[in-house]
Amino acid sequence: MKHRGKIWLGLGMLVLVLASATMPVIAAEEGAKKLGRPEGLVPYVPTPYDVVEEMLKMADVKTSDVVFDLGCGDGRIVVMAAKKFGAKKCVGVDINPERVKEARELAKKEGVEDRVTIVQEDLAVTNFSTATVVTLYLLPEYNRALRPKLERLLPLGARVVSHDFDMPPIWKPVQVKEFADKDGGHHTLYLWVINEEMKKRVAEEKAKAAAARKAAGGTKKGTGGTKTGGTKQAK
Ligand SMILES: C[S@@+](CC[C@H](N)C(=O)[O-])C[C@H]1O[C@@H](n2cnc3c(N)ncnc32)[C@H](O)[C@@H]1O
Repeated sequence: MKHRGKIWLGLGMLVLVLASATMPVIAAEEGAKKLGRPEGLVPYVPTPYDVVEEMLKMADVKTSDVVFDLGCGDGRIVVMAAKKFGAKKCVGVDINPERVKEARELAKKEGVEDRVTIVQEDLAVTNFSTATVVTLYLLPEYNRALRPKLERLLPLGARVVSHDFDMPPIWKPVQVKEFADKDGGHHTLYLWVINEEMKKRVAEEKAKAAAARKAAGGTKKGTGGTKTGGTKQAK
């Protein structure tokens, strides 16, 4: 029973790997393509409440914080962030309309509708630039794909907490916590804080992408086009 969640996530990971062999499923960048399944490729496995609390403690959520849960399920993380930690604004994003409905109902039931917004969309297109805390319970591939966007959009000092999945290979967590939930289930929690080095990488990756675009444009034009066309394209 206590391993059920991990088995589901393992199956999800398998689906993701199989799917990614045939279609571009991971594009956690603005303007990315919609994923091929309406319910998303990450299965719904709720984080136990005591683990949610630990994640929010690790992120040091305060009344001044804006908390985003990317893939929010039934909304338990954003609802607890608002209700128990007093976060001034919380946004839960989920691709699955059923989860969105549940999350909105939970926010209403817990009396925090005024500070909790639930958005139905693909997290690949979510603009979370107002967030000071982001929570994740996705899959390693999603974390990896989200990393550039997190670095680009989040302000310095913003905290990112992930349930069970690391952000390899670039981000090094500032804290890793092994946590046993009340039913004896084991959870690993990761905390990162947006720092100067990450922001510097945004500029470097932007320059690299521009150079790659320039090279691709040049090659494209170069194969069948003219010299002037290639130069124009590059600018
Ligand atoms: C493992 S559950 C985590 C739920 C919640 N964050 C928690 O910890 O209790 C992952 C959630 O992500 C949602 N999801 C999967 N792919 C998504 C996508 N591309 N955009 C938004 N939500 C997505 C699923 O519908 C599911 O509710």
